[in-house]
Amino acid sequence: MSKMVLGVLASGRGSNLQAILDAIDAGRLSAKIGVVISDNPDANVIKRSIEWDVPVVCIERKQYESKEAWETAIADELNVHQAELVVLAGFMRILSPYFVNRLSGRVMNIHPSLLPAFPGRNAQEQAVNHAVKVSGCTVHFIDEGMDSGPIILQEAVPLEEGDTPETLAERILHVEHVLYPRAIGLYCEGRLKVEGRRVTILEKGEGTHEN
Ligand code: GRF
Repeated sequence: MSKMVLGVLASGRGSNLQAILDAIDAGRLSAKIGVVISDNPDANVIKRSIEWDVPVVCIERKQYESKEAWETAIADELNVHQAELVVLAGFMRILSPYFVNRLSGRVMNIHPSLLPAFPGRNAQEQAVNHAVKVSGCTVHFIDEGMDSGPIILQEAVPLEEGDTPETLAERILHVEHVLYPRAIGLYCEGRLKVEGRRVTILEKGEGTHEN
């Protein structure tokens, strides 16, 4: 069976992209990255993509008159590379309902909190300030809201005495790097059944594209 093609959208450091590349390289994830798209020409993710010989394109918001024109350029680029699943990996812009509907059910995101707690920016800082005992990370499909789409996988990460947003972010990031490739793998195997906001993980062998 041919490998599912991923399109990755990322704005910054790219450690989640790296985790996906590593999982593919180690044979833990059967997929192929068709293209990485960044909105930030200075993003480290561009350097990583070049090092790993992955096609990478920078599509800056400021080059387009409207958000819709910019999102159309991104969607067209994903099409050119035949991306079947779009993976947001630290993509720092909010996508409009136009984009979400165009790619309906095919866009995943990872967020560094246990949603629906602490959506939006600085989730780790929100968790530290709220003095919760447990936070974590969530992989979800995107919908028209802010970090509000159907939840695929979550994992808890405890807070420790004296945690700062940075120390918590670091601890959560390690978990993200395992959780995201796992969620992508489930999608690639056709094992995610979405009904409304409920995502059911099908047993191995029940999926629609086992490989
Ligand atoms: C991660 O913390 C992720 O949860 C959030 O943005 C950050 C991206 O980090 N959505 P990186 O660019 O993948 O290193």
